[in-house]
Amino acid sequence: MTPELNRRQFIQGLGVTAATIAVGNSVFTLAGCSPATTTPTTPTTPTKPPATTIPTYKNFLIPALAKNTSSDPTKATFELIAQKGKVEFFSGKQTDTFGYNGSYLGPTIRVKKGQEVNIKVKNQLDETITTHWHGALLPGEMDGGPHQIISAGGEWNPHFVIEQPAATLWYHTHTMGQTGQQVYKGLAGLLIIDDEVSAGLNIPKDYGMNDIPLVIQDRRFAADGSLQYMTKPEDAMGMQGDTILVNGFVNSVLEVSTVKMRFRILNASNARVYNLILSDDSNFTQIASDAGFLQSPVELNALKLSPGERAEIIIDFSKHAVGDTITLKSQTNNTINIMDFSVINKANDATTIPNTLTTITKIPESAAVKTRTFTMSGIGPLSHINNLQMNRQTGMDTIHESVKLGDTEIWEVISAAAGGMSHPFHVHGMHFQVLDINGNPPPANHQGWKDTVLVETTNKVRIIAVFKYKGLFMLHCHNLEHEDAGMMLQYECK
Ligand code: C2O
Ligand code: CU
Ligand code: CU
Repeated sequence: MTPELNRRQFIQGLGVTAATIAVGNSVFTLAGCSPATTTPTTPTTPTKPPATTIPTYKNFLIPALAKNTSSDPTKATFELIAQKGKVEFFSGKQTDTFGYNGSYLGPTIRVKKGQEVNIKVKNQLDETITTHWHGALLPGEMDGGPHQIISAGGEWNPHFVIEQPAATLWYHTHTMGQTGQQVYKGLAGLLIIDDEVSAGLNIPKDYGMNDIPLVIQDRRFAADGSLQYMTKPEDAMGMQGDTILVNGFVNSVLEVSTVKMRFRILNASNARVYNLILSDDSNFTQIASDAGFLQSPVELNALKLSPGERAEIIIDFSKHAVGDTITLKSQTNNTINIMDFSVINKANDATTIPNTLTTITKIPESAAVKTRTFTMSGIGPLSHINNLQMNRQTGMDTIHESVKLGDTEIWEVISAAAGGMSHPFHVHGMHFQVLDINGNPPPANHQGWKDTVLVETTNKVRIIAVFKYKGLFMLHCHNLEHEDAGMMLQYECK
């Protein structure tokens, strides 16, 4: 049995014998495919029938679906257990990691709009964590930010109702000052919301088949396989690694048919901004941004994605021949390979991309009752917003901004020249629309609902939002080293 096989079995939690299956055969028929189960925990034979089947891939990992233990369809109940793990990212080398319900990353939680969600988060680590639902609209106490600490050995039971449209969200630890190292070790996973719109579209939507998550992360490993975190002076600017992981797997190759494939891309890297392109320079179609579908699909040949941001794209492999390999790359000042797509067979495609995906009602600027300015600046331990830092001077009790429930506000977000960095600005407890970037309308793929926006050096980005949730929420740079250093404030909505 190969090490890869062990790894796949661990992630998908199955006792499988023949795990090497060509996915291309299984995009539209499962013939020849030995279905994987979705039990997220231990590699034993499942006792209950799986909720869904995910094919097993040779050089690609699909995060398992978290098991919903509620029999009431209006509810969804999950358990996440933060735990230590060991992963063989490289043959013959064990890497110490953290994961939820497994050794690295966590299962994909899938819920429907309207459902009441209950999640038991258990912390089996030796250190305090939190678990934040990034992009979820819910009351402050359920948000999982730095205030909802889960002590070592403890547990936390958030419950909330999904009141937002279909989207690809994620969850991750958000411990004050420790988010960077804990996410780096693996404490993150996807949270997918479905609704009547997502169900009604004839786009690719079979999870693990033609609807594939891509959780992209960069990591640095020592020769012995151990993860290297903050080992170089420049890491204080934001931890970047030279090894790309997709869904926690190195050198990913996904075998595809000549059909349209949907990818839910999450930049779960601590600090790296990707500019995604395909090696043949062909176009792809973005259908969703952070918080849901775009009104209309947007054709792109490059997609910039900063830490915390999500994009759903569709790549049409029908223009390729069997035998082709297309590489997903990131092209910034250097070019790095993210993963390969290997076209292995021809297939018919019944999916379509409609001209209209959903309706997005613009929030009129005139609705705003207040404008606030947030300037991100400083390097390393001096990282701050408006010359203030969460925690560092004053502890976690200082509330920096107060917002009135129901109000619409415009926030001007500036990346100061000092420090010379781009900052992915993220806000909890609301979704926003980008009004303009340096006075210009945002690109079409930034005209939907968002919760994170990259503010490039010296730029001013204006966002508008309606504040509908009560409680204490964070606003921060999603470069996790900046965040941990203090580039984070909190607002109260009441
Ligand atoms: Cu993705 Cu405040 O977090
Ligand atoms: Cu968040
Ligand atoms: Cu930053």
